[in-house]
Amino acid sequence: MSGHGDPIPMTSRAGGALSGEAHVPGDKSISHRSLILGAMAVGETKVSGLLEGQDVLDTGRAMQAFGADVINHGGGNWSVHGVGVGGFAEPEQVIDCGNSGTGVRLIMGAMATSPITATFTGDASLNGRPMGRVTDPLALFGTESYGRKGGRLPMTIVGAANAAPVRYTVPMPSAQVKSAVLLAGLNAAGETVVIEKEATRDHSERMLAGFGANLSVDDTKEGRVITLLGQPELKPQTITVPRDPSSAAFPVCAGIVAQGSDVLVPGIGLNPTRAGLFTTLQEMGADLTFENMREEGGEPVADLRAKFSDNMKGIEVPPERAASMIDEYPVLSVVAAFATGKTVMRGVKELRVKESDRIDAMARGLEACGVTVEEDEDTFTVHGMGAGGVPGGGTCATHLDHRIAMSFMVLGLGTQKPVHIDDGGPIATSFPIFEDLMRDLGANITRD
Ligand code: S3P
Repeated sequence: MSGHGDPIPMTSRAGGALSGEAHVPGDKSISHRSLILGAMAVGETKVSGLLEGQDVLDTGRAMQAFGADVINHGGGNWSVHGVGVGGFAEPEQVIDCGNSGTGVRLIMGAMATSPITATFTGDASLNGRPMGRVTDPLALFGTESYGRKGGRLPMTIVGAANAAPVRYTVPMPSAQVKSAVLLAGLNAAGETVVIEKEATRDHSERMLAGFGANLSVDDTKEGRVITLLGQPELKPQTITVPRDPSSAAFPVCAGIVAQGSDVLVPGIGLNPTRAGLFTTLQEMGADLTFENMREEGGEPVADLRAKFSDNMKGIEVPPERAASMIDEYPVLSVVAAFATGKTVMRGVKELRVKESDRIDAMARGLEACGVTVEEDEDTFTVHGMGAGGVPGGGTCATHLDHRIAMSFMVLGLGTQKPVHIDDGGPIATSFPIFEDLMRDLGANITRD
């Protein structure tokens, strides 16, 4: 189930080289933050290249429910008329964040230090995910939360009036938790300090600074220490959302596994907190090159060229790389099936609390397609069968998880028999043009 309609079973088949250019949509993380920070600024923030996936649209609707004006001008151009830090109105209805952990967790943070109450819900996937990782630190501001057992949605958040700032060390590598605390800190008078032991994606820090917040980041032996001075007036921005490296991962990996392919994926941000997959693919011996390296908006950007790679070796992916490719392990495990030897992914237990338990979902689907895997709580191992050696033929359950669905569609482009998924509906949450984009490259992906 996509959560918003009937299941959409799909099949992908090998046959034919992929070629051409794949223009992937805007970055999901930056799109959410553009709408939320735009809503917390005073005046009109203009956003171009916004990802118009379901997750981000749900965040836009939520910002409207909190009193901001979110306007779609067409063609990926949006504007947000913000209400200022502390200016959120109390929503009249339950806020439905659909499938989006980023949406709900960041919005909870953004409203947590305003004297308003809001109730959040989502689809079956989101309502099964842990929110305690966000409500625990928010409680330090004086925010109250009332959810289901295990800290699950639906959940009501009672924002703190006159919140005091906090100092918080994030216990797991999570940009969502870090960001929720920083957004809550915006309306607490004084300095909120967030410490992360491992660097996670730093879009919130970069964008907060861009919106005029007083924020500093220091690398210390304790970890990355982010200090934010509360109650700034955020200045509206003009934002061009870069293309999403996590979406680029799918056409790139498709090019690598589909025989004879040569695919160009232009304009992809290589922010080091996001680019771990590409390093890993190169280490495996994939034919992936960075062309036209440049800087855009202070970030390294390149055009990625991926060619069919029939000589890849399995490798050990180190745990310290996990945060920089956390969303890319599902598709990496697909590529690993076409390498020779074992690919061992360590330090990946966060995958178990994503839109689905991604280790379990990939393990079962790969097994159904004839691939041997091993897993423990924090490690996922795929035994590669070499290019051309993966049987396929299975039907893979996607568990309301867009990245699981797209990963198995990539798998089928290189297997001996077609690969089926039970539901491609969730793909629309992050990559609504996936099917068209892949078909334009020549991929044989069909709805059943
Ligand atoms: C995101 C952070 C990551 C990632 C998610 C987007 C973000 O989640 O998996 O897709 O935009 O902050 P965690 O913070 O739970 O690791």
